[in-house]
Amino acid sequence: MNAIPPLFDVARVRAQFPILSQTVRGKQLVFLDSAASAQKPRAVIDAMVGAMETQYANIHRGLHWMSERTTDAYEATRDAAARLLNARDRHEIVFVRNSTEAINLVAHSYGRGIMKPGQAVLISGMEHHSNIVPWQMLRDAHGTELRVAPVNEAGELDMAAFEALLADGRVGLVAITHMSNVLGSYTPAERIAKLAHAHGAKVLFDGSQAIVHRRVDVQAIDADFYCFTGHKLYGPTGIGVLWARRELLDAMPPWMGGGDMISSVTYERSTWAEVPHKFEAGTPAILEGIGLHAAIQFMEGIGYDAIAAHEAALTEHALARLSAIEGVRVIGRAQDRGGVVSFTLDRAHAHDVATLLDRQGIAVRAGHHCAEPLMRSLGLDSTARASFGIYTTPDEIDVLADTLGRIREFFA
Ligand code: ALA
Repeated sequence: MNAIPPLFDVARVRAQFPILSQTVRGKQLVFLDSAASAQKPRAVIDAMVGAMETQYANIHRGLHWMSERTTDAYEATRDAAARLLNARDRHEIVFVRNSTEAINLVAHSYGRGIMKPGQAVLISGMEHHSNIVPWQMLRDAHGTELRVAPVNEAGELDMAAFEALLADGRVGLVAITHMSNVLGSYTPAERIAKLAHAHGAKVLFDGSQAIVHRRVDVQAIDADFYCFTGHKLYGPTGIGVLWARRELLDAMPPWMGGGDMISSVTYERSTWAEVPHKFEAGTPAILEGIGLHAAIQFMEGIGYDAIAAHEAALTEHALARLSAIEGVRVIGRAQDRGGVVSFTLDRAHAHDVATLLDRQGIAVRAGHHCAEPLMRSLGLDSTARASFGIYTTPDEIDVLADTLGRIREFFA
């Protein structure tokens, strides 16, 4: 494999993740399931515990110092998220629970509030259920159409078919993953946005996987909506981000009513707070928001250039090692891909493979990965999936490959 760039000291990174030093059944833990949820560095743990130990209170409400300090800490995350995405304006950052909630927000608010029945939503053939089901619900409630752009043999978006599906000008919104959680493929975000805009559509990217591995610049992409979840970005569960252009958020109606999202309330009518608060009803995930700030700072401290180079080398190594094992088939061969590798093993069900790997202390995910339509189009019901993070080492990939080689002999 390519040498890991010297600017990236993986041992130092690993030392910041307390969970990784564990042994499992006498073996060193090999955690290769970061695409499902990443582990948390000490900085994130300390930020959340520190807030609870010193200043915790509800935010945007109290006049006492604890509320003020916690409000400042939580709102600082909005600045950090705006910086991470290169948003023009911190008001374009809406906090949500996760990417699923972000997409549901857009489906309800933009879909029902702005889109017209008869318009279409265009997704791809490699979407997670979270970017399929909300659009089916919109279709059934509002009379929009759902179109699906196919994926080619290599596991890349078929751009000719994608463009053809835009051609009649009826697509109001393209909603597409920025990186497949099954195939590892990136989608060409800038090209997608350009084509969508040329045909009068807005574009939403599900960045849950991509932003973990690659710098995202919503202005350079020329996106309209971009979402990600905190827990895959080494942050806590229960906090995620929807970024949208300010003018879209201003035009969109709120989707959940309650405290914090109003300007005034009478029994006759209520008026809405300014964005982003219009979309943030109720007490938010305060501690999780504070933890997300620490995660973003952690990522910035390492730097996306180093992260991307480290993970590209790991992925290349994993593809070479796994492909060399007789009976192992890697699913997805996109040119532009990240650190997620799905595979099957002849004569073995993916669940059995994952269980046998688990016995050796190796954690991978197996199943349909919440992407059933994609699996069906691949003619599969499940794959095993190894996914990498900033703390993954080439040695861990070697342990996976060596163990898979032994498992193969068992099934042969
Ligand atoms: N979306 C997550 C995954 O791919 C849960 O595993």
